[in-house]
Amino acid sequence: MPSKDTVIITPYRDGPLLVRGSVDLTWPDGSAVERRRSPVALCRCGKSKLRPLCDGTHKLIGFRAPGAGA
Ligand code: FES
Repeated sequence: MPSKDTVIITPYRDGPLLVRGSVDLTWPDGSAVERRRSPVALCRCGKSKLRPLCDGTHKLIGFRAPGAGA
């Protein structure tokens, strides 16, 4: 069982990286990225209009991620 301070990152099959745990998400200038949900889903397909967050576009474009995933 992971501790409450553990951050778990799960690559979903042909979808985002799901980040569970307490993390700060910032832009390169250090300002906070607005988080709309928890856990955080980070775009892996590169087509989200909410990058770096996933907006579900990966499903519409039929994104296929390399490698194995859940
Ligand atoms: S992974 Fe979901 S929009 Fe890119």
